[in-house]
Amino acid sequence: MSDKVTVVAVDGPAASGKSTVSKLLAKKLGFNYVDSGAMYRAVTWQALEMGVDVTDPIAVIGMMHTIKISFEIRDGVARMLINGVDPGDAIREPRVAEKVSVIAAIPEVRQILVQHQRSLTKFGSLVMEGRDIGSVVFPDTPHKFYLDANPEVRVQRRQRDFAAMNIQTSAENVAQNLQARDKLDAGRATAPLQIAVGATVIENSRLSVEETVEVILGQIRRQPPRPDPLPWRGEGNPQP
Ligand code: DC
Repeated sequence: MSDKVTVVAVDGPAASGKSTVSKLLAKKLGFNYVDSGAMYRAVTWQALEMGVDVTDPIAVIGMMHTIKISFEIRDGVARMLINGVDPGDAIREPRVAEKVSVIAAIPEVRQILVQHQRSLTKFGSLVMEGRDIGSVVFPDTPHKFYLDANPEVRVQRRQRDFAAMNIQTSAENVAQNLQARDKLDAGRATAPLQIAVGATVIENSRLSVEETVEVILGQIRRQPPRPDPLPWRGEGNPQP
């Protein structure tokens, strides 16, 4: 990775505002925006399309070795293609949301996707959102943020996302899905959702998107660049 490439890691639970904040942040910084959750969703969508049993890790890993993953940057946004196809909004369907945490808990799937995520610095500086970006994918970046919001606000945000896609679902269903995913994402053995060492935690229930972005930009401006960037380490949150 070139010394000039900067990575901003934005982690947090589902519907904590990561996507909206990260997109605006990337725009303001002139960096590419990468949604790592979209990669886990795309793999889940592909498994469902191929009729692969998502609860069978061997079958999912087998599928991973038959598909070709590639990326393109469109309008500053990284898009993951599977066998040349961008699944688009289909990865947001509730059927994908219900299964994605199961797929994301498979260590071999994570290993493959983490390599791809790291490779995206070849396109330049980036803002990457996810669950393990500051802890595993880019543990040495000095720019790590962890967003959170209270459960009611998160349900409202996710319901708004669904409404924008014309998907009707009750607040109860959304709350149940968010709770179930939080439990799986934070409880899994490999790269669980956690606050990365050195991350700035931003509870944004009462902050607008713009305010949250300003807090992050202020912190990035205060953070002096690292004198000697280290190569990305492997799995695990580095010890302080
Ligand atoms: O951010 P999202 O809701 O689109 O993420 C979809 C799922 O992918 C989420 O349940 C957890 C998983 N995920 C992950 O395990 N690691 C990441 N870096 C990003 C997402």
